[in-house]
Amino acid sequence: FRTQVGVVGAGPAGLVLALLLQQAGIACIVLDRQTREYVETRARAGFLEHRIVEFLRRNGFSKGLDLRGVQHTTCEFRLEGRQYIVPYGDMAGCAHTVYPQQFVVSDLIELFIARGGTILFSHPVVKIEGLEDDKAVIHCHAQNNIDHSPVVKQVECDFIAGCDGFHGIARASIPPDRFSAVTRQYGIGWLALLAEVPSSTERVIYALHESGFAGQMPRTPQVTRFYLECSPQDKESDWPEERIWHELRKRMAVNSNDGDRSGNDELVPGKLIERRVLDMRSVVTETMQYGNLFLAGDAAHIITPVGAKGMNLAIADSEFLAEAFITYYREGDGTHLSKYTETRLPHVWQTIEFSDWMLRLIHNLDESGSRTFSDRLRRARLERLCGQGDYANTFAANYVGK
Ligand code: APR
Repeated sequence: FRTQVGVVGAGPAGLVLALLLQQAGIACIVLDRQTREYVETRARAGFLEHRIVEFLRRNGFSKGLDLRGVQHTTCEFRLEGRQYIVPYGDMAGCAHTVYPQQFVVSDLIELFIARGGTILFSHPVVKIEGLEDDKAVIHCHAQNNIDHSPVVKQVECDFIAGCDGFHGIARASIPPDRFSAVTRQYGIGWLALLAEVPSSTERVIYALHESGFAGQMPRTPQVTRFYLECSPQDKESDWPEERIWHELRKRMAVNSNDGDRSGNDELVPGKLIERRVLDMRSVVTETMQYGNLFLAGDAAHIITPVGAKGMNLAIADSEFLAEAFITYYREGDGTHLSKYTETRLPHVWQTIEFSDWMLRLIHNLDESGSRTFSDRLRRARLERLCGQGDYANTFAANYVGK
């Protein structure tokens, strides 16, 4: 194979990039180590920012989410049994769209292939070469069509877009002495759950409890994501079903004499279809490009799930990277490409900062010992979020991704 841009990874970052390049008449091939079925059914994120939805819409990539996405404009915090309802959509004048990542991926795959694009599924990339030369080479494993024996294929390209996630091969191909990344490990675990049960409220709930954080995020009418703060060392087996539902109920409970009880319907236990422990951390690769390799999405940065920014950041990287490739191929101007890292990093850090701020709001990271002091502070913050001032407006704009 020979192409202009070799895209490693068929997640949101790789697919958005490939579609934009295809639209601009730039040749590209996408490779993914997994099968199509696997990537189309892998449940991950689900909240799309307003500006990302607008971007997908402008480019004609939003048919599925326009049909099946659900708009969210309100979220709720709970502390000491009280509810703090934040109508961020009214404040910002726009909404989130809830549309599971696997649906986004599946829609983009369908569109790219329907428009004549090539995605090589079940093609794990095992080596990337020639990053400092005129021609880069992607080596991948595949199966012979006739007898299914293993074969090695090569894709030659002008550029490689590393959209293969944090454990992919792209970021690992940058020489260590040219590579730099910074990490924050929060020492917090989240038990991430998906349950076949409707959400008890239509809005997202962030419950700040003395036993730890609990969250509820609607995904589809039948499936809800829940999170429970736990030790990062916990194993899934430490969390039998009974304990999970007990902790969720306890941490999300509201006082019965509290004003608005409309959002406090009883949690109904349902079949758990995913249960895994996440280690809360953020990692920013400050080398987003090396030679003719460009990293986008999780390959370049990991952001904690707090604030639901991961998929949005991945798509935003690809939007900029595609523009840079288009300017290069149309006008012979490589300035934007050469400034990819420099341009994207400030946006990445703004997003990381928001997620870090929110993480500190919903967890008790106060190590000075006074639980009460820390809870009062958090209460004061929540009261400000429910107010009408700049504090609340800034939160609303950042949260919804205006
Ligand atoms: N060869 C080919 N493909 C690979 C390889 C490899 N060596 N390693 C990984 N991949 C593929 C994976 O199979 C996956 O489909 O790269 C793809 C990366 O996709 P994502 O993990 O979805 O990453 P990205 O597109 O950056 O999207 C980020 O995913 O983790 C969530 O919360 C995160 O929402 C964010 C989004």
